[in-house]
Amino acid sequence: MEAFTFYNPTRIHFGVGMITQLGAEMQLAGIKSCLMVAGNGSIKENSVYTQVMNTLSKHGIKVHEAWGVRANPTLSKVREIVAIAKETKAEAILAVGGGSVIDTAKTVAAGVFLADPWDAFCTDVPIVKALPIYTVLTLSATGSEMNGNAVISNTETKQKWAFYSPLVYPKVSIIDPTVQCSLPFKQTANGAMDAIAHILEYYFTNQIAFSTLGIDDALQKTIVEMTDRLKLNPSDLIARGNLAWCATLALNGISGLGLSGGDWACHQIEHSFSAMHPDIAHGEGLGVIMPAWIEYMSEKDPSRFVRWSKNVWGEDSVSRGIMRFREKLEAWGMATSMRDLGIKERDLPELLELIMITDKVGDVSKLSAADVEALLMLAY
Ligand code: NZQ
Ligand code: ZN
Repeated sequence: MEAFTFYNPTRIHFGVGMITQLGAEMQLAGIKSCLMVAGNGSIKENSVYTQVMNTLSKHGIKVHEAWGVRANPTLSKVREIVAIAKETKAEAILAVGGGSVIDTAKTVAAGVFLADPWDAFCTDVPIVKALPIYTVLTLSATGSEMNGNAVISNTETKQKWAFYSPLVYPKVSIIDPTVQCSLPFKQTANGAMDAIAHILEYYFTNQIAFSTLGIDDALQKTIVEMTDRLKLNPSDLIARGNLAWCATLALNGISGLGLSGGDWACHQIEHSFSAMHPDIAHGEGLGVIMPAWIEYMSEKDPSRFVRWSKNVWGEDSVSRGIMRFREKLEAWGMATSMRDLGIKERDLPELLELIMITDKVGDVSKLSAADVEALLMLAY
């Protein structure tokens, strides 16, 4: 095992009907008014909004509302909501939605104390303060409900960057899997792929943290099995619940303990895909680049991928493990190439430039520009 520090202060209320806990939690923390951040209306269609309003009103908490956060959320929206948070003197930020809404809420929570919220992403300005964050999760994918990360796109510069701060872990997150029955299967599958990718970013970094690797084998297999069940029956609550919890565990610290801090090359590359093409869902982009990365890296050193092929996909040969992975994503109806994602061949030079902007792709297996170019060709 490598040395590690584990920190996770988020209180989770998991299960059917748990949205009712929200008002009491905020009241206990002395919060009298909050700003709710939301997306483009799914929470009104599936009753989540009504449930949230009921619990807040029961506990006397005043709510202002900021709607319209899109998937692959933008800096301009964050700036708009920071202004609302200041104007309404929000005491807390409440995110009701998926990763995009939660990440926007986190950036707003820190951004109200910064000269500009983008400072959180690209300068050495320390984040020393943030409003308390509460979340009601409606899409299991990113783990944002129980971590200190946020990812936002600056559409002017086409940079989709992340920041981490211990100050933006949600105080409380509610995960009621029933509210995810309204998801189209495509979003469920994208979320499953994102969770698998979070595990894999850690998984291949060393081969000796057996306890964590064993947890990660089980998480991956459960995610695949539950997603298969949800393809057949979107209202399968046993599958919804298990998938939801696996996705939280995939990026709340647990899945990487004793491994290194993770590689994150595939995430960096995918973030550039969706920075350039905001219609590309994060999980779907990962479903294209991650199998290609495994294929590319296994040509150099197949031994790193033997355990994964065997334990997750039941295959002795790495190339057959990769094949099983790709077949599964295809069976879930996901894109299998960058071409499928709608990326044009003429975009590739600009994409490469965007990916290489920080001069560092991959924290463990560092990729040069030539490596990334070869990888893109493999994924195209
Ligand atoms: O706009 P609304 O109405 O909210 O609809 C959303 C959106 O259209 C819809 N949706 C969410 N819950 C639903 C639902 N539709 C029906 N029923 C429900 N219960 O789903 C669509 C996608 O939502 P989004 O929040 O964008 O998806 P996701 O949770 O996958 O978040 C993706 C974003 O998170 C970032 C990604 O890069 C991307 O920007 N990530 C954040 C991370 C983190 N904070 O730790 C780590 C990840 O690696 C990732 O980068
Ligand atoms: Zn991800």
